[in-house]
Amino acid sequence: MAQLWGGRFQKETDKAVYDFNASIRFDKKMIEQDIKGSLAHSKMLEKQGIISLEDYKAIKSGLEKILDDVKNNALEITDEYEDVHSFVEANLIKIASDAGKRLHTGRSRNDQVALDMRLYTRDKLVQTDEALFHLLNVIIKIMEENLNTYMPGFTHLQKAQPTTLAHHFGAYFEMFKRDRQRLSDIYERMNYCPLGAGALCGTTYPLDRDYVAELLEFKGPTLNSMDSVSDRDYVIEFLNALSIIMMHLSRFCEEIILWNSNEYRFIEIDDAFSTGSSIMPQKKNPDIAELVRGKTGRVYGALMSLLTTMKGIPLAYNKDMQEDKEMAFDAYDTVISCITLFGGMLETLTYNKERMAQSAMMGFTNATDCADYLVYKGMPFRDAHTVIGKIVLYCIDKNCSIDMLKLDELKGFSDMFEDDIYDAISLETCVEKRLTVGAPGSEAMKKVIEINKEYLEDNKIKEIF
Ligand code: ARG
Repeated sequence: MAQLWGGRFQKETDKAVYDFNASIRFDKKMIEQDIKGSLAHSKMLEKQGIISLEDYKAIKSGLEKILDDVKNNALEITDEYEDVHSFVEANLIKIASDAGKRLHTGRSRNDQVALDMRLYTRDKLVQTDEALFHLLNVIIKIMEENLNTYMPGFTHLQKAQPTTLAHHFGAYFEMFKRDRQRLSDIYERMNYCPLGAGALCGTTYPLDRDYVAELLEFKGPTLNSMDSVSDRDYVIEFLNALSIIMMHLSRFCEEIILWNSNEYRFIEIDDAFSTGSSIMPQKKNPDIAELVRGKTGRVYGALMSLLTTMKGIPLAYNKDMQEDKEMAFDAYDTVISCITLFGGMLETLTYNKERMAQSAMMGFTNATDCADYLVYKGMPFRDAHTVIGKIVLYCIDKNCSIDMLKLDELKGFSDMFEDDIYDAISLETCVEKRLTVGAPGSEAMKKVIEINKEYLEDNKIKEIF
C-alpha cells in the first residue's frame, strides 16, 4: 500500500478499506493525461520561480521515463498504489527524489483528477467525432449510389409512401450530423482548465493558471475553484450525447435486422459481419446489429448512474465523484467500437433492389398520389381521400394494386380518371415528383447531398476542434 498521506494516522488502513477506496484499477487509463498535466504544472511552477530549473528538468525527464516505461511494459501499474496520481508521484520520487517531491506544490489531487478527467473526456470526444465523421462518409456514399433505389417508406411499420434508399439513409445522415454538432457544443463548453483550483479554494502560490491552460490547449482557466473540482457536467453531457448516438445506432440496427430478415429480404449482411448458429446450419444471424442495439442499455446506464451519483453532493469535492469513471470509460469505449463496427457492416451491405421496388409497388404506397391526381383534376382533397379509400377496399378484395385496375373499373369510382392515371401513380412518378427540400425525388436529393458534402468538407475532424 503506497499512499500519499499517512502523517496524521496512527494505524494502517484496513486492507478491505484500502481496496474499496482505491481507484487504480480503472483510473490507470488516465496515465497519459495525468503525466501531461504534471508536465504542464511543473513547467508553470518553474516559470513562476516556485521550483528551480534543475528540479523542473528532473521532474520532466522522470515523468517522460515513467510514461515510456509504462508503454513499453517495463513498469507495471499495480494495485500497490491507491490511484494513478499516487503511482506517478511515487515513481517520480524514486527517480528524481526531492525534485519529485516538489511536483505537487500548489496542487491537490482534487484539481489534478478534475484535469485528468477533462483531458480524457476531451480526447474521447474527439475520437467519437472522428468515428462519426467516417460513418457519415460511408452513409453519403451509399446515398449517392442509391438515388433511384426505390423502396417503401413506413409509418407504424406499415407501408406508407414510396421513397428511396438514399432518402431513408439520409435521415440517419442528419441524425449523426446533429450528434457531431452536439459533441462540438460540449467541447466548446468544457474546454477550460481546472488546474490551479487546488483542493477547493485555490492556493497562495503565485500560479499562472492562464499559462497552464494554454499549455494544455484549453481556452482558459475555469473561473471558480470550488466548481472546478466538483464539476462533472461535461461527463454527463458527453454521456448524454453518447446515449443519443446509441439511440440512433440502435434504430438503424433495428431496421437492418428487419430488412435482413427472411420476410423482408431487402438487404444482406456480409458474411464477415454475420455469425452462424451452433445447431441450425441454415442460420446467418445479424449479431453485430443486435449487439449494438443491445449495448445501448449500458450506455444509458452510465448516464443514469452518474446523474444519480452527482445529484446530492455538497460542494466541493467528495469521494462519490470517483464513481464518475468506470461506467463512463466503459461507455466511451463502447460507443466508439459500436460506431466503427456499425460503419463496417453498413459499408458491406448488399441490396436486393428488385425486391425493394416490388415491395414499394404493393401495399398501396401510391394511394396518396392517386388522391392527389383527383385533386389536380378538381376534386376537393377530402372527397378524393374517400374515393381512394373505397378503391383500396375494392383492391384488397381483388388482391391487386390500384395501378392494376382497368380504366373502366377506376371510372366506376370517379369519372375524373383518365388514361394518364397510370403514369401519375407509377412508382417512379410517385418518388420523382416529390421535389420539396428534404423529399425523396432524386433532383431534390441531389441538392441535399451537395449541401451535406459541403458540410463534410467544412467540418473535417480537426477543423471542428
Ligand atoms: N481517485 C480520486 C477520484 O477519482 C482522486 C481524487 C482524490 N482526492 C481526494 N481528496 N481523496 O476522484
